[in-house]
Amino acid sequence: MRISSLAENIKIEKRISVTPEIAKKYISLGFNLSLPKNYGAHLGFSDDEYLKLGINLLDNEEEIIKNAEIIIQLGLPDDNKLSLFNENKILIGSLNTLLNKDKLENLKSKSINCFSLELLPRITRAQSMDILSSQANLAGYKAVIEAFKVYERAIPMMMTAAGTIPAAKVLVIGAGVAGLQAIATAKRMGAVVFATDVRMTSKEQVESLGGKFLTVEGSENLETESGYAKEASEDFKKKQEELLTETLKKIDIIICTALIPGREAPKIIKEEMFNNLQTWISNL
Ligand SMILES: NC(=O)c1ccc[n+]([C@@H]2O[C@H](COP(=O)([O-])OP(=O)(O)OC[C@H]3O[C@@H](n4cnc5c(N)ncnc54)[C@H](O)[C@@H]3O)[C@@H](O)[C@H]2O)c1
Repeated sequence: MRISSLAENIKIEKRISVTPEIAKKYISLGFNLSLPKNYGAHLGFSDDEYLKLGINLLDNEEEIIKNAEIIIQLGLPDDNKLSLFNENKILIGSLNTLLNKDKLENLKSKSINCFSLELLPRITRAQSMDILSSQANLAGYKAVIEAFKVYERAIPMMMTAAGTIPAAKVLVIGAGVAGLQAIATAKRMGAVVFATDVRMTSKEQVESLGGKFLTVEGSENLETESGYAKEASEDFKKKQEELLTETLKKIDIIICTALIPGREAPKIIKEEMFNNLQTWISNL
């Protein structure tokens, strides 16, 4: 079978689905693999690396699409590329089914088979394909690293003869896979970490990582039977906003990971709350 992958729109997606390590696995399974030239150059994977593995590197994406039976992507390719897909082609990726509903319906009507891996059930048997957990884990870690890079002060408490610098205070909103990794990473680097979630089962997990859990007063049970968050009531949202507005006065870094499956991420930090934070920082 012939597998291909097309260049991603690297303004919004820098990851690629076929690294040389992954390519090696496909080749050893007997697949024929084609990629566009410069496919992984922005990540430091040169064309030479792919050529040495016996992969065909092509200039023309139209040809790549035409020849492939399976196309593996991160995001959904743009409309021009999709218009070149013909019947029975298989597209595998993280296709953002919520935002791309119409485009995916259109592909379905053309008998193109799409697999969107973020919809894969997170059962033990499918764990090696659980892209949500592996990517959330990395995102939680990276969010902390990026935030600490722009934060101009010390992260751990620094006690010197000349005085003491307090530890950075981090607030993590949402304590699922990404949030818990963010808490663990920030703690390891010496920050004081606060976290909140609508699922009360996450309280124990936050505390076991050394975080301080902020419980929204009057919090109802907002967890589904499968362990995910439900949409919160207006009353709950108001209480959460009050708690966070107060908490933000002493916070240096906020990391938002809150999500409700199949919906747009809730906007928990409102502009006016952020203004408060700015005033506090500029008053220092
Ligand atoms: N069975 C498995 O293999 C498996 C794998 C990964 C995760 N899980 C479980 O799935 C659950 C969800 O994890 P996830 O990381 O995919 O979650 P997610 O990415 O869907 O959401 C992130 C977090 O945001 C929280 N959240 C939603 N709305 C919020 C709000 N208004 N305020 C604050 N927090 C809010 C959610 O409760 C969740 O903890 C967890 O219980 C996790 O342990 C199971």
